[in-house]
Amino acid sequence: MSSPSLAAHPLADRFPADFTWGAATAAYQIEGSVDVDGRGPSVWDTFSHTPGKVVGGDTGDVACDHYRRWESDLDLMADLGLGAYRFSVAWPRIQPSGSGPANQAGLDFYDRLVDGLLARGIQPWVTLYHWDLPQPLEDAGGWTDPAVIDRFSEYSAIVADRLGDRVAGWITLNELRTHAFIGYGTGRHAPGRTGWATALRAAHHELLAHGAATRAIRAAVPGARIGVCHDVAHIVPASDAPEDVAAAARYRQGIHDWFLGPTFGQGYPGELASWYETHGFLSDLDLAAVEPAEPIDFLALNYYRPDRIHAAPVRDTWGFGAAGLEGVGELAGNGWEILPEGLRAVLGWVNDTYRPPAIAITENGSTFPDRVAPDGSVNDEQRRSYLERHLAAAADAIEDGVPLTAYFAWSLLDNFEWALGYGTRFGIVHVDYATQVRTVKASGRWYRGLITGAP
Ligand code: FCB
Repeated sequence: MSSPSLAAHPLADRFPADFTWGAATAAYQIEGSVDVDGRGPSVWDTFSHTPGKVVGGDTGDVACDHYRRWESDLDLMADLGLGAYRFSVAWPRIQPSGSGPANQAGLDFYDRLVDGLLARGIQPWVTLYHWDLPQPLEDAGGWTDPAVIDRFSEYSAIVADRLGDRVAGWITLNELRTHAFIGYGTGRHAPGRTGWATALRAAHHELLAHGAATRAIRAAVPGARIGVCHDVAHIVPASDAPEDVAAAARYRQGIHDWFLGPTFGQGYPGELASWYETHGFLSDLDLAAVEPAEPIDFLALNYYRPDRIHAAPVRDTWGFGAAGLEGVGELAGNGWEILPEGLRAVLGWVNDTYRPPAIAITENGSTFPDRVAPDGSVNDEQRRSYLERHLAAAADAIEDGVPLTAYFAWSLLDNFEWALGYGTRFGIVHVDYATQVRTVKASGRWYRGLITGAP
């Protein structure tokens, strides 16, 4: 292809020379090989095999077969010119029952992966937990049981001991909010439990587990660079009506401050805590336990879209709802609104409010119904444009003074998009699931041009 849009872009000049350019994945979404080398079951194995939970009955049993194809996938990353790769370690490969001694075969896989990345000049960034809790821990209460905090810290120490000398960035947990609220609140993700008190309980233990794991990694690896990943949205009240504005403010506290406050030693937002208390959403949690926060080296943020919020009755929601998107503009294939300036706005808000030492965007991307052309190419102009406009917004944020040091596109590969299965593709590389053939999409070619300067 020789379209001018594939040429190197002056956009790269708006980023510092030492900026980290990467792409991200997560274990359950790409690895497959779910019952080899001693891996135990995770909540996502159970959930995806439960009829009706995932579109089309898809499961991660095979996924992108990355567990067996890791070497050629690393070659692909090198070919894309990536400077960094964010992947997650599958806890059930390391501790098949969620506790006890390490399973060496599982550790060996990530050890080889890390060495293979370094051999290709790509920095390894490790997420310790991207939602695949060992099923035996869920059977014992999962994230609603405080015992999970020590289990997670022990697991983190095992991984840090083995990989710590070579990892550029550690991310303790991925998207605490989405995991707790969707996995334990609405039940649309594994483990599929429901109720807002349950969700807040899970979130509380995630926050404490992040702190405990941070201490464990630091003890194992002096000088480790450690962060935690929160998913943020640009929040817009659906109207100027006072109740919508109040609902949006409550939502901001609920999805942002509830997680960022404890991350930065400010505790939970008191106003919302009282509101939750009044409505019976808080169980017997010791909210003050989150206050002595462990310092982090960088904040990992995932951004995809704005959230337009209106007031809703307090029944089984928290007094807000997602407003309809009719006529708001551009939508991705999964119905998410596309608003690049929302990225600049939310980065500015996070920076002004919490002053993180550094920020890495650890996920950003979009999904469209990609088509493979007869010549084998995938011309995903909408995704390319999404990435370009979000990177321009990120560059604006840097010019505003936001300490942004890294960007990871979501995702390296099309993969198992949780409850939406394989039909929802987020990759800059197309995967033909029948043959496992990888094809770099036009967006991936554009990203390579941006990173490497090569046409
Ligand atoms: C995020 C998840 C990631 C992927 C993207 C689309 O919430 O962290 O695994 O599913 O959404």
